[in-house]
Amino acid sequence: MEETSLLCLLSLISLLSCTTNQARLTVSPSSSQFFETDFVSLSCEEDDSSAGWTLRRNTSTETRTQCGDVWGEGPGYFCSMKVIPEWDTGVYWCESREGAVSNMINLTVTGGSVILQSPVLPVMEGDDVTLLCKTETTPSNLPAAFYKDGSLIRKQPTGHMTIQHVSRSDEGLYKCDISSHGESPSSWITVTEKHITTPLPLDSSLLHFVIRLLFHLVVFCPYVISTVLMVSLYRKRAKGKILRVPILPTQPEQRLDDEHYDVISDVTTEYHF
Ligand SMILES: *[C@@H]1O[C@H](CO)[C@@H](O)[C@H](O)[C@H]1NC(C)=O
Ligand SMILES: *[C@@H]1O[C@H](CO)[C@@H](O)[C@H](O)[C@H]1NC(C)=O
Repeated sequence: MEETSLLCLLSLISLLSCTTNQARLTVSPSSSQFFETDFVSLSCEEDDSSAGWTLRRNTSTETRTQCGDVWGEGPGYFCSMKVIPEWDTGVYWCESREGAVSNMINLTVTGGSVILQSPVLPVMEGDDVTLLCKTETTPSNLPAAFYKDGSLIRKQPTGHMTIQHVSRSDEGLYKCDISSHGESPSSWITVTEKHITTPLPLDSSLLHFVIRLLFHLVVFCPYVISTVLMVSLYRKRAKGKILRVPILPTQPEQRLDDEHYDVISDVTTEYHF
């Protein structure tokens, strides 16, 4: 039954290659603000590399420009930026060839001398969040003042502050200030509810996966069964008529295969969102 195992392998490969179609954008180092002299890399962590995920961005002067065109270097799903000018400030995301998008990230590059290092990805309700106010030139941390939505929330001698067990009310626009050096730009901190895993809609992706799985089972089961039947029939016949050249019996089988491939491609194209 070599044919059956081969077919099983085939169906398995096709199942694995047709999993969900989504990506998650991450930034390294994990910060939403950078100095112009920093080195930043962006990465689309994807489920399906054949979907052709590429990094794109909107800035004040560019729309949907792709990594490698006028900014960044890399293979598209990964992009590194050495020495980032202030105009790299913008919203970044990953986009697949079919137009699916990842989570979006706002990056702010400052030509000033103070940045606020805050979480670039949404934080989960109940987590601790540490904010760091730093200068480009001073290696050790200086005393800093932290602001939320324009009001002073805390002055810290060490330049960093931790918000323990964040709640939805901690969401807002944060900035910091180091008196001898100046003020950082502002960055938005998003707090998500514990049970909802944003920014990726995992629930719908799971549903998507299950539906695809069912489709593949529905398509492949009759295929496997009928091929097994054909093969065993053909073998029985071949045993009875050993001396006959087995050209004729293979032709109907061939045709059946073609028909099945048609069915498969129909289903897949119909099912694209
Ligand atoms: C990027 O800019 C285009 C054109 O202004 C707009 O349609 C699109 O929604 C923007 N994308 C993001 C993620 O801001
Ligand atoms: C990015 O910044 C814009 C403008 O400040 C804001 O409307 C948007 O919600 C931010 N997006 C994220 C993902 O933080």
